Amino acid sequence: MIHQTQVGIVGAGPAGLLLGHLLHLHGIDSVIVENRSRDYVIDRVRAGVLEQGTVDLLIAMGVGERLTRCGLRHNGLYVSFQRRRHRIDLAELTGGRAITVYGQNEVVRDLIDARTGTGRPLFFEAEDVSIDGTDSSPVIRFRHEGGEHEVRCDYIAGCDGFHGICRQSVPHGDLTIYERTYPFGWLGILAEAPPSCDELVYTHHERGFALFSMRSTSVTRLYLQVPPDEPIENWPDDAIWNEMRTRMTAADGWAPNEGRIIQKSVTPMRSFVAAPMRHGRMFLAGDAAHIVPPTGAKGLNLAASDVLVLARALRGFYDQGRTDWLDEYSDVCLRRTWRAQRFSWWMTSTLHRFPDDGPFDLQRQIADLDYLTGSRAAMTSLAEQYVGLPSEVSFESAGLSGG
Ligand code: APR
Ligand code: PHB
Repeated sequence: MIHQTQVGIVGAGPAGLLLGHLLHLHGIDSVIVENRSRDYVIDRVRAGVLEQGTVDLLIAMGVGERLTRCGLRHNGLYVSFQRRRHRIDLAELTGGRAITVYGQNEVVRDLIDARTGTGRPLFFEAEDVSIDGTDSSPVIRFRHEGGEHEVRCDYIAGCDGFHGICRQSVPHGDLTIYERTYPFGWLGILAEAPPSCDELVYTHHERGFALFSMRSTSVTRLYLQVPPDEPIENWPDDAIWNEMRTRMTAADGWAPNEGRIIQKSVTPMRSFVAAPMRHGRMFLAGDAAHIVPPTGAKGLNLAASDVLVLARALRGFYDQGRTDWLDEYSDVCLRRTWRAQRFSWWMTSTLHRFPDDGPFDLQRQIADLDYLTGSRAAMTSLAEQYVGLPSEVSFESAGLSGG
């Protein structure tokens, strides 16, 4: 079967779904092709911090109803070291901006519902997805329910994540790869326990980093720094709670509430950028082009800002025939990407213990955190980056009102 469309989108993660909906709002047609099932995409547990700008974008796009109702707005966060928690008042330091805790899988669920409501095509469980013709006449080919499909389009959006095919289809030598892997991973759990603090707690500890977060008023989300590729079997529930208590219990007695663990997994940590984010008529967006370690909570937010820039560029092309915004796409996105890379690297290296670190490094990290939590200038720097630096593309120029 042959499908003719304006933009062929590979991947129905946050990037692909957000782009599809932004294009729909501009009257631009798209076909989204995803190789996993709908349930898999919705149930996949990922990060959960939305920057102010991401929240504003989802609301301006008309997909913020459940987010406004169920998202948890946080005006601050805690940084804990030497067993003391220090609050950083994000809202006060940034003129009222804040973050919202709302699971990425909830964002994906809302966007799939919105897509379904538009009646525009979204194929799940597409097999053998391949792309071709990015130099002239792009096509996406795949099999679906036994039939062969071909999507013929003006442009391809490669929104297929870090392991996707789009970036890999760019000829060797046309992309520059910047990469750093970290000598640790994060063991993450979801526990049936009401959060014992209503804001996030980033904890530095001699035994390694720990993070307290949440998903709702009854579910706590926690992370522990562990060796990379640590088998999850090494961590029975009791061992996880012991280690959480050791790292997180503060001098004032604060500790996470404990409960039944309903999900656990280990994620590797990496910083990665592929440049440029365009090859001919294909644009890369989100994790397909860049990965940040989760410490800065930037992954989903970067994906959202990429697609806002891409949607503006495609709208400019279809409405006015202009190609300058398409030409600028990669540079505009990479500038923000590198700022987020720098911030995520700094948060990661300040809060984690590295295998080669000695006593000097420990004292240097403590001094860094001491300075951070004692200086309004340092806290403001963290706060403005954590809630999200201003976007280079206004909602108005992207065809949305507000923001
Ligand atoms: N064909 C079709 N779809 C594919 C293919 C393929 N060959 N390969 C991967 N995909 C799909 C994945 O199944 C996934 O649903 O592409 C989607 C990519 O989604 P994400 O990995 O969530 O990436 P992205 O949309 O860029 O969102 C970035 O996701 O990884 C998190 O924390 C990260 O928050 C960040 C966000
Ligand atoms: C999460 O809640 O999953 C979360 C929060 C903050 C981070 C990373 C993940 O930095």
